[in-house]
Amino acid sequence: MNQVRAWTLDEGAERARASYRAAFGAEPDGVWAAPGRVNLIGEHTDYNGGLCLPIALAHRTYVALSAVEAADVTLVSRQEAGTWSAALADVGPGAVDGWPAYAAGVAWALGQDGHAVGGFRAAVDSCVPYGAGLSSSAALESAFAIALDDVFGLGLGADDEGRQALAAACIRAENEVAGASTGGMDQAASLLSRPGGALLLDLRDGSRTPIPFDLAAAGLALLVIDTRAPHRLVDGQYGQRRATCEAAAARLGVPTLREVAPAELPSALAALDDVRLPDGSTVPAELVRRRVRHVVTEIGRVEEFVAALTSGAARDVGPLMDASHASLRDDYEVSCPELDVAVEAARAAGALGARMTGGGFGGSAIALVAADQVEDVSESVRAAFVGRGWAEPGTLSATGDGAAARVLDDAGE
Ligand code: GLA
Repeated sequence: MNQVRAWTLDEGAERARASYRAAFGAEPDGVWAAPGRVNLIGEHTDYNGGLCLPIALAHRTYVALSAVEAADVTLVSRQEAGTWSAALADVGPGAVDGWPAYAAGVAWALGQDGHAVGGFRAAVDSCVPYGAGLSSSAALESAFAIALDDVFGLGLGADDEGRQALAAACIRAENEVAGASTGGMDQAASLLSRPGGALLLDLRDGSRTPIPFDLAAAGLALLVIDTRAPHRLVDGQYGQRRATCEAAAARLGVPTLREVAPAELPSALAALDDVRLPDGSTVPAELVRRRVRHVVTEIGRVEEFVAALTSGAARDVGPLMDASHASLRDDYEVSCPELDVAVEAARAAGALGARMTGGGFGGSAIALVAADQVEDVSESVRAAFVGRGWAEPGTLSATGDGAAARVLDDAGE
């Protein structure tokens, strides 16, 4: 199977520095890197004030960056053609298309928060698979956030509170400048994760709790399967799910679906009716009920998953992963044939549990596997894909990595 290898920090830093030199004929002030993520459980819960449990990947986006005198932004990327430039004053909602929205948008958002961010130029390179549901966009935003914080002396990267402010700026960039109405899990994972741990995020009170995540000690491994299925209708479908949840919460008279306790679920479902979305479409009551049931039961599964990890029973989380996948497939309807086949083939080859991860409609699945069965499970998934005439999936291993940080300073160290 195609192993998608993570670059070492030195390798990534050198690559970004070399692109910067090639583009600008000078050395950068430094190189910063931020990880992509996989979510262990708690899907489509973040924008409902719920719980989720991401870990950072060793796969990172690297940004070589320097401050410049002029109030301009100039960007190049090894993953994209051409050079993008604009006056900083012209960056904002509705003004930037494509990948620069995620990069320059962070400078705009920091400026909106009153931080003095000046002009800069930067070169980007990344080994986070693109469009694989592994948060390449949050990795890009977070790498710029930590770089701009450092270069302009904002002092936010030094502690978790400051990093939370950087994450908030990244979320604004994504929601308002890039125009993607995502929920905030990815940026927190990229800026606040700690090596060897998962991050329990509570989107109701904004709290973050590190949870021990040491699968190797339990003889286990987490296999990430990038199905390479093209994302289908992602934006529209994601926004529609989110709007449905918000309309359902309004109907129930609560700020978010987090307020629906599992014991109250039957009565809440009974109280729901057809909802009308802001775009004028109507979602029938039966569908609204299924969406709500997913969110409420998924939040409960996060709690059980965390309890298993903290009591050293990592093996017990398999059935929770399976139940999460079934709920996302049947109630929330965000899976796709490639994700379902990856999950089923992994389980058939002995995985203890498997589920789609991230927003869905393509992207990646994760499987909890005995450490000595990683090869067998990967092969079984590969065979299932090839047998259907699909492209071979990619695999990544994930253990829980550290957050965004500077990886090279201007002295080249
Ligand atoms: C995407 C979004 C996140 C989250 C997940 C689903 O990754 O960026 O905010 O909503 O989908 O859990």
